[in-house]
Amino acid sequence: MAIEVIPLGPILGAEVRGIDVSRPVPVALFAEIEAAFNRHAVLIFPEQPVSDEQQLAFSRLFGPLEVNPNYAGAKMRLRPDVADISNLDAEGRVLARTDPRNLFNLGNQLWHTDSSFKRIPAKCSLLSARELPSSGGETEFADMRAAWDALPPARKCELHGLAVEHSIFRSRSRIGFADFNDDVFKQLPPVPQALVRNHPASGRTSLYLASHASHVIGWPVEEGRALIEELIAFATQPQFVYRHRWTVGDLVIWDNRCTMHRGRPYDDTQRRVLHRTTVADRTSTLEQEGLVKLPAA
Ligand code: OGA
Ligand code: MN
Repeated sequence: MAIEVIPLGPILGAEVRGIDVSRPVPVALFAEIEAAFNRHAVLIFPEQPVSDEQQLAFSRLFGPLEVNPNYAGAKMRLRPDVADISNLDAEGRVLARTDPRNLFNLGNQLWHTDSSFKRIPAKCSLLSARELPSSGGETEFADMRAAWDALPPARKCELHGLAVEHSIFRSRSRIGFADFNDDVFKQLPPVPQALVRNHPASGRTSLYLASHASHVIGWPVEEGRALIEELIAFATQPQFVYRHRWTVGDLVIWDNRCTMHRGRPYDDTQRRVLHRTTVADRTSTLEQEGLVKLPAA
């Protein structure tokens, strides 16, 4: 059996049909999915109404999973290996507009890549749509490989070898959010990441940017920040972007190593419920790019 892969545009995104992700996936079929993932960076699997356990099992095929800290400090609705991308409290009620969890989640509307604020960031994320508002709430994805390819050669030369400091506090302070519990500060110190990455699975080069990116290490903060803002604006031009309009039952997987994404606004008095599983990368990006020497074992 072969899957059907239908590209959604010239740059990124493809729809995948001919598979049931809730059942064990044969090795040969998974190899086809991986090849499509490496090429298209964002895969849409329509009509896949999975349980959390089924989503976790499918996600583990891509690698070991992340477990999420309790960022907002309130009781969590879901188990710690399933990220709650919803506007609900632990009892399943829509959060008040000013609830800190709602305010924290607004950070997802800034262009970012998942977990770049962790030393070992996310390889890919899988997001399952469970309940949706009547309009809005789309998710946009931008291809950082296509953005890299489009940079002028002189710019490319300047960027190679730079390291950028990433932090969850940077992205949340951009929207004025500072209501973290003390544990989060201890658990998530700022981390360095390579600005330019080799995407080994496609043999292409990629920018690595995010709202979490603060400044270029070794540069004046202002200069690094200006560079990061310029690159984010460049890399998210419409020609590099695919916008996903959700249908309940969609399962979407994206490659955090070579894309950015953001949620779009919606009427947050309506329920929007998506469950995310997140696959960790193997090592820090600095190690992958040979920008640090590994300490002797
Ligand atoms: C995420 C995310 C955006 C959205 O799940 O990592 O950023 O549209 N989601 O909900
Ligand atoms: Mn995200």
